[in-house]
Amino acid sequence: MKCLECHTEIASRLSAHRGLHVTYNIPAGSSQECARCHSEHNGEDFPLIKWDVKAFNHKDTGYPLEGKHAGVQCSKCHNPSRISPQERGSIKIKDLTQTYLGLSTACASCHQDPHKGHLGPTCQQCHNFEDWKTVKVEQFDHAKTRYPLTGLHAQVQCAKCHVNGSDGKPQYTGIPFNQCADCHKDPHHGSFPQGCQVCHTTNGWKKISLQTVNERFDHSKTKYPLEGRHTTIDCAQCHVNGDFKKPLAFAKCMDCHMPDPHKGQFAKRIDGGECASCHTLRGWKPSTFTVKEHASSTYPLQGGHARLECAQCHIPKGKDTQFKIKFAHCTDCHLDRHASQFAAAPYFNACDRLANCPLCGSGM
Ligand code: HEC
Ligand code: HEC
Ligand code: HEC
Ligand code: HEC
Ligand code: HEC
Ligand code: HEC
Ligand code: HEC
Ligand code: HEC
Ligand code: HEC
Ligand code: HEC
Ligand code: HEC
Ligand code: HEC
Ligand code: HEC
Repeated sequence: MKCLECHTEIASRLSAHRGLHVTYNIPAGSSQECARCHSEHNGEDFPLIKWDVKAFNHKDTGYPLEGKHAGVQCSKCHNPSRISPQERGSIKIKDLTQTYLGLSTACASCHQDPHKGHLGPTCQQCHNFEDWKTVKVEQFDHAKTRYPLTGLHAQVQCAKCHVNGSDGKPQYTGIPFNQCADCHKDPHHGSFPQGCQVCHTTNGWKKISLQTVNERFDHSKTKYPLEGRHTTIDCAQCHVNGDFKKPLAFAKCMDCHMPDPHKGQFAKRIDGGECASCHTLRGWKPSTFTVKEHASSTYPLQGGHARLECAQCHIPKGKDTQFKIKFAHCTDCHLDRHASQFAAAPYFNACDRLANCPLCGSGM
């Protein structure tokens, strides 16, 4: 019988192009070549293998001993306990402490996997042969853990989540992560028991669509239902810093809409200039102040004045429009077309007393 017909463990490695014998360039199926290094079987204690273990370079097996593996005793790896049952069957040598076959190169076949399989079988992705602590972070794919990092979490330093445990080492397991509140303080002081995820994502606390919040929170149940323009402004414009518990005054518009854009022009009114007297939540323009309201001002609009555009007297400049204007004399606004003929007594330019003035007819 030819050597390789019996020694299928060697034959299969030769055809798989794997292991030590591949490096000896043995022609396919040749048994003569074996004699170069092995003698015929010559009874029990005859040494069949002539080689110098000390001069042996492990690289020749196709598996160099790198880093901390260099210098490790052969038997720590070539140990019957590491030979899998499948491999065991094909090995001819009965005393398995004598064989060098049957090992796997998978790290987990010799090292315990503290990740319990979560991070997959390719330990080299993150580890090297020097030590287990130095992890190649740039290659670390957190997506393989039970907690993929999304949004801004991808930029957070590992140590912020993996804080040191009692052993002084970063903890990688047993971190609670079902709720955002497991790691984040609630700035809302419990205003929203439904859970942070309902409104927030990891893309940023402030990047929150108003539509989303409105769908999830019914403001009409609070003491201050939102109406008109208030329904389309961000919550934080009223609830500063996301603190929804902090009481807000809301009896008057002026509780929030200060400083007064009209710069105190209406401060002396009985209402103190309260915006609600002249504005609604539908928008600042137009104002509810019309000719009718003007009647109770210091300058009621009479006759032709009542038909004028407001802007003809209050030159529009948005909120800076002047509502305080001189009005003691007609000539405060009108040119004196009579070239001062009626400036003196008894008329004093009071046009309305010139009932048949040729220029303005009945005065007003
Ligand atoms: C860190 C573990 C480790 C140590 C230490 C180690 N080996 Fe290996 N050795 C392996 C692994 C794994 C293989 C299998 C490579 C394969 O099958 O591709 C192997 C393969 C071999 C083979 C090739 C078997 C074949 O026919 O293909 C020989 C021979 C060998 N080792 C000898 C030794 C000797 C001698 C020592 C001590 C000087 C030693 N090994 C130390 C892990 C180790
Ligand atoms: C150039 C030298 C060389 C040649 C040629 C050679 N061997 Fe080996 N053989 C070795 C060395 C060295 C070992 C010891 C290391 C090992 O076990 O892998 C060995 C080990 C063996 C073993 C024991 C494997 C075990 O379980 O550890 C068998 C079986 C074997 N050889 C069969 C053969 C056969 C069959 C041939 C011919 C096809 C052959 N050898 C050719 C050097 C050689
Ligand atoms: C009939 C099957 C058979 C044939 C043919 C055969 N062997 Fe073996 N060989 C064995 C068995 C079985 C063992 C294991 C013996 C043991 O562990 O007690 C073995 C062991 C070996 C060993 C390892 C010895 C050791 O203990 O380290 C080598 C080397 C070896 N044979 C080489 C050869 C070579 C070279 C040939 C061809 C010239 C050959 N054998 C032919 C069955 C065979
Ligand atoms: C065949 C078994 C085997 C395989 C496969 C193996 N190792 Fe080892 N490794 C060992 C042994 C044995 C030691 C020495 C441990 C000792 O002395 O207790 C060791 C030591 C180490 C050490 C030094 C720190 C320590 O645990 O003592 C590192 C790091 C290491 N191996 C990484 C790896 C990596 C990474 C892989 C996979 C790419 C791997 N090993 C594959 C057997 C193996
Ligand atoms: C935002 C928080 C957070 C950040 C940042 C973070 N992780 Fe994690 N990590 C977790 C959580 C939560 C788990 C799941 C823990 C579990 O499964 O018990 C986890 C799991 C892991 C695991 C798997 C543990 C195992 O055995 O399954 C490793 C390893 C890990 N992280 C490493 C890192 C590294 C390295 C970084 C930096 C690149 C990092 N993490 C950044 C929260 C984070
Ligand atoms: C995706 C990256 C990744 C993969 C894949 C990975 N690990 Fe880890 N491993 C880590 C990180 C991160 C640590 C923690 C490093 C630290 O403690 O600073 C770690 C720690 C370890 C430790 C040390 C544990 C301790 O408490 O000191 C061992 C041992 C280990 N890994 C083994 C393995 C094995 C075995 C595999 C393959 C089955 C593997 N790892 C796969 C990332 C990974
Ligand atoms: C395992 C712990 C953990 C969990 C669970 C967690 N985070 Fe984080 N998150 C962090 C840490 C740590 C930071 C970094 C904070 C820092 O730098 O102070 C962070 C940062 C953020 C940031 C970036 C803004 C900032 O504060 O720097 C946002 C946004 C964020 N998380 C949202 C969420 C949301 C939404 C959830 C729930 C869906 C959540 N997080 C769940 C730990 C966690
Ligand atoms: C009903 C929706 C809603 C829920 C539920 C919610 N928030 Fe908010 N959160 C908001 C709004 C709205 C803001 C203000 C956003 C802005 O500033 O534009 C905010 C702001 C924040 C801010 C930023 C505060 C700042 O301005 O610095 C953090 C942090 C935050 N939320 C954390 C949480 C956490 C943690 C939870 C769960 C305990 C949570 N939120 C639940 C709506 C919600
Ligand atoms: C125009 C201003 C304004 C806007 C915009 C606004 N709120 Fe309010 N909100 C109030 C006022 C005023 C109260 C009543 C405050 C009080 O009772 O002290 C209130 C009450 C609340 C309360 C109840 C607080 C408590 O503890 O009773 C919550 C929660 C709340 N608002 C959430 C929101 C959310 C979420 C948004 C965004 C969708 C939002 N608010 C937008 C003015 C506003
Ligand atoms: C609890 C605070 C608060 C109260 C009370 C309040 N507002 Fe507002 N309102 C705001 C905030 C904040 C905004 C958005 C910022 C801004 O435009 O000044 C706003 C916006 C508006 C806008 C829309 C402005 C625009 O550009 O779209 C109008 C109109 C308005 N408010 C009218 C009123 C009127 C009228 C009242 C009284 C009936 C009132 N508000 C009472 C806080 C309040
Ligand atoms: C006595 C009536 C009156 C009061 C009180 C009043 N406003 Fe006005 N406001 C007006 C009139 C009239 C206009 C011009 C409207 C127009 O152009 O259609 C105006 C215009 C504005 C505009 C400019 C609109 C634009 O874009 O042109 C803003 C803003 C405004 N008011 C805010 C306020 C706020 C805030 C308060 C309370 C602090 C307030 N107003 C109080 C009468 C009033
Ligand atoms: C013919 C010129 C004229 C026209 C037209 C006119 N106003 Fe006036 N308005 C005045 C004068 C004059 C005052 C008083 C100014 C003062 O007290 O200093 C005044 C006062 C006001 C005030 C202040 C009321 C207060 O209580 O302090 C408001 C508001 C106002 N006008 C709005 C309007 C609006 C709105 C229109 C258009 C519907 C309008 N006015 C049209 C001349 C005019
Ligand atoms: C606060 C400014 C102001 C004062 C004061 C004022 N007017 Fe006018 N009046 C106007 C403006 C502006 C117009 C429109 C432009 C124009 O016709 O000159 C106008 C128009 C008129 C018109 C024409 C109306 C029409 O139907 O076309 C008459 C008449 C008139 N004023 C009479 C008077 C008389 C009389 C007085 C004094 C008792 C007076 N006005 C005081 C601002 C004023």
